[in-house]
Amino acid sequence: MGLEGRTALVTGAARGIGRATARVLAEAGARVAVADRDVAVEETAESLRSQGHEVAAVTFDVASPDGARAGVSRVREVLGDVDVLVSNAGIVDHIAPLVRMQRERWATELDVNLGGAFHLLQAVLPVMVERRWGRIVVISSVAAPGGLYRQAGYAASKAGLLGLAKTVTLEHARDGITCNAVLPGLIETETVAAMPEEIRSAAIAGTPARRLGRMEEVAKLIAFLASDGAGYINGAEIRIDGGFSLNTAALGSRREVRGSSQ
Ligand SMILES: NC(=O)c1ccc[n+]([C@@H]2O[C@H](COP(=O)([O-])OP(=O)(O)OC[C@H]3O[C@@H](n4cnc5c(N)ncnc54)[C@H](O)[C@@H]3O)[C@@H](O)[C@H]2O)c1
Repeated sequence: MGLEGRTALVTGAARGIGRATARVLAEAGARVAVADRDVAVEETAESLRSQGHEVAAVTFDVASPDGARAGVSRVREVLGDVDVLVSNAGIVDHIAPLVRMQRERWATELDVNLGGAFHLLQAVLPVMVERRWGRIVVISSVAAPGGLYRQAGYAASKAGLLGLAKTVTLEHARDGITCNAVLPGLIETETVAAMPEEIRSAAIAGTPARRLGRMEEVAKLIAFLASDGAGYINGAEIRIDGGFSLNTAALGSRREVRGSSQ
């Protein structure tokens, strides 16, 4: 997965999947710009620098078109043009029944999760087109095809990303650019580790793999999609969920219904 000579921009890299992705991309040889609205992103950069990687930290809010444009310009000044964009920054801001959702908070989730990707795409695509090479990975969720109970804003924003990513493929595959969506199930990030135990256990019980995903597993998938070898994977939705999205009702035999896999 050699990414030597490439410059990657990872948003939402102060923690979680974004930080793990920045590390894996750097280990694959890329120069990596780590971006976040949280200044803790400096710590991600510092720890990668201490391992000898070429890294820059940029702080901006992806929901702001001007912020995203200025952030990408800053990356260009420090590390060069962006070859690989990982649009990962995302929020869950509003958990409520649909009929009680507040318009403003619905809009915030759409602005960050979907608008953020749109702003970054507008900022990086022209140069990728000029250079005839680009790799874009947007981080969606299994909530996109499946919906998410009491999280309509989040689910809708993640579903919107699928349409956005596929349109990039339609418009820019001929320019040597790929754009793919990664759909994680529940991944053991710092935030997920802090969830109530009953939610975690229910998620694990409903997952054929009987465990949560690891951040590094998602990061390695992203790094592959960013590589030359993945050049013909374009406009894809790739689930990484241990089988969570499958029909997990075991109706095959009485023994399966009783919970045994033997
Ligand atoms: N963890 C999971 O189980 C899971 C499952 C499916 C999808 N995802 C998606 O993967 C991505 C990463 O998830 P995570 O669990 O690592 O999240 P996280 O909450 O741990 O980290 C998200 C990062 O994004 C940053 N961020 C949020 N809003 C921003 C903004 N407006 N501008 C710039 N930065 C901003 C945060 O400061 C944070 O550092 C998200 O898009 C999330 O929706 C996560």
